[in-house]
Amino acid sequence: MPAFTAPVPLALYIHIPWCARKCPYCDFNSHEARGPVPERAYVDALLADLEQDLPRVWGRRIESMFIGGGTPSLFSAEALERLLSGLRARLPLRPDTEITLEANPGTVERGRFAEFREAGINRLSIGVQSFDDEQLRRLGRIHDRRDAFAAAEAAHAAGLDNFNLDLMFGLPGQTVEQALADIANAIALQPAHLSYYQLTIEPNTLFHQSPPTLPDEETTDAIQRRAQAELARHGYERYEVSAYARGETRRCRHNLNYWEFGDYLGIGAGAHGKLTDPASGRIHRLWKLRHPRDYLERAGSPAGIGGDEPIRETDLPVEFLMNALRLIEGVPAGLFPERTGLPLVALEPGLNRARERGLLVGDPKRLQPTDLGLRFLNDLLQEFMP
Ligand SMILES: C[S@@+](CC[C@H](N)C(=O)[O-])C[C@H]1O[C@@H](n2cnc3c(N)ncnc32)[C@H](O)[C@@H]1O
Ligand code: SF4
Repeated sequence: MPAFTAPVPLALYIHIPWCARKCPYCDFNSHEARGPVPERAYVDALLADLEQDLPRVWGRRIESMFIGGGTPSLFSAEALERLLSGLRARLPLRPDTEITLEANPGTVERGRFAEFREAGINRLSIGVQSFDDEQLRRLGRIHDRRDAFAAAEAAHAAGLDNFNLDLMFGLPGQTVEQALADIANAIALQPAHLSYYQLTIEPNTLFHQSPPTLPDEETTDAIQRRAQAELARHGYERYEVSAYARGETRRCRHNLNYWEFGDYLGIGAGAHGKLTDPASGRIHRLWKLRHPRDYLERAGSPAGIGGDEPIRETDLPVEFLMNALRLIEGVPAGLFPERTGLPLVALEPGLNRARERGLLVGDPKRLQPTDLGLRFLNDLLQEFMP
């Protein structure tokens, strides 16, 4: 039976499942809001949902919170205030807890960020995607380039300097020059953090039904290489496959917890959690009903749970590495036994093969991908499949 010798940190994810409009590339659990969002009922549901989860985390402190979506910035500051005070009343938080809110530039009127800050939000993640109006239109976004600039400026003005911009690359017909123009615009806005995602075509999206023409691999490779160099030149260090931070203190603590295989509670429609139970030696994945209507009806009762399954011991190595090896510096080897409860020898055959193939660095004290390993992460993970 796996044995846990150190406490596992705990984070909280809160999912808000509505958007003003559904983007044609997006497969997240987000639904077009037809009319006003039922924020009062939803905050009640979230708090009831949390109460049901509480016995699983008695006595543990929350290290970070992330309110994601969907478009959480559709909620009023009052609703978020009520949510955050309800969470604080039910859970001990670390004094300087990072509390991030995802915001869509098309939903940010003047003064809203200041209200969000008042409510307790101390980090924003702004979904810019691109600064090119033609691209934004193709991506079905509700905002334009001016809204994107205004949102970042409003974040600074509200004293929320610790903000992230989400950008995507490999957009339909995108050239290297266009992508670099997006990067230059992002840098000029001085975000603390940048998430730079390659656009992927996901099943169950409009783009999957009628795919746009995307740039070839040579172009996307060049975009990534040159964007990375440009970001580095301006002090943005790549610390994860898609994440860049202006110094170590600006890394996203909440996401680091996922990559370091920490625990998290997930509340809200379709939210996933991962919880270690040292008594049984098991790590569980737990998720909530996906559809907002069903969730609103049943959250807080056993019928609101979508599923609850222990991770099989044979799957733990790959589940751990699929997160940890996204980090450019990897993790100390000792984190594997700490977070999975398994001895390091469980990784040995895979480690040897991956090191021989030049996919992992040789240092036995670290689990760290080489440049090649990072580029062919799936190949690297194959070595650890059960
Ligand atoms: C769940 S979304 C929430 C952010 C917010 N709703 C918004 O879009 O403004 C988080 C981020 O995932 C990225 N994303 C969503 N779908 C993607 C896809 N198919 N390929 C790459 N990145 C994607 C976008 O950059 C998006 O900002
Ligand atoms: S606004 Fe964000 S979450 Fe909503 S559909 Fe678009 S990408 Fe998805």
